[in-house]
Amino acid sequence: MNSTTNNPTHDAHDHLRHATAAHVDRIHEDIDRVLVPSAAIASRVRALGAMIGEDYAHADGRLTVVPVMTGSLLFAADLVRALPQRRMRIQLTTVSSYGGKSTTSGGSSVVGALPKHLEGHHVLIVDDILDSGGTIRLLRAEFEACGAASVRACVLLRKRIPSAMATPCEYVGFEIGDEFVVGYGLDFDDLYRNLPYVGSLRKEAQVR
Ligand code: IMP
Ligand code: MG
Repeated sequence: MNSTTNNPTHDAHDHLRHATAAHVDRIHEDIDRVLVPSAAIASRVRALGAMIGEDYAHADGRLTVVPVMTGSLLFAADLVRALPQRRMRIQLTTVSSYGGKSTTSGGSSVVGALPKHLEGHHVLIVDDILDSGGTIRLLRAEFEACGAASVRACVLLRKRIPSAMATPCEYVGFEIGDEFVVGYGLDFDDLYRNLPYVGSLRKEAQVR
């Protein structure tokens, strides 16, 4: 018997490790197909960070990144860490555009107060996916009305559909087909956001 076997702290850690592995495996079971693997996301985020960093090199102290909650939580967290900016701000916003199911409903509205002190700032909207385009169009108009020096948008994914392709968006991570995806922040009924990749959900899992 080795010395760690009787140590309750080690036992707890082991238990947690196994519980976590089981939980992760069960999440993977609901996924049909991986569309964007985590390594591809990581390298694209680094490239976007470098590109955006250069484009905003003139904006030191006047860049405000606005992640759209909750879908862009993971993407924005990784993207800001890939930016070389010495001084930048982060202000969250929440837009309700769909009921958390697999359909989009068109009308978007800002939930709660808009980010403050955007006047004269270069605003970069960060969202998970460009679908109907309602979210990006709405926020761009709101921030321009706030007197922002410039407003640009960055999305991890853009669906290859007319509404999304027709919505101006300066930075796009990946283009995907017209299908419902989850993972890396994207949800179905608030679930699956913690998957490290983007994938499609099995039909059987799309029930509430
Ligand atoms: P838009 O305003 O229609 O462009 O939709 C953007 C929002 O709809 C995103 O921020 C997501 O929250 C949600 N959304 C659209 N398509 C998907 C999807 O395939 N999976 C998960 N969420 C989606
Ligand atoms: Mg969203």
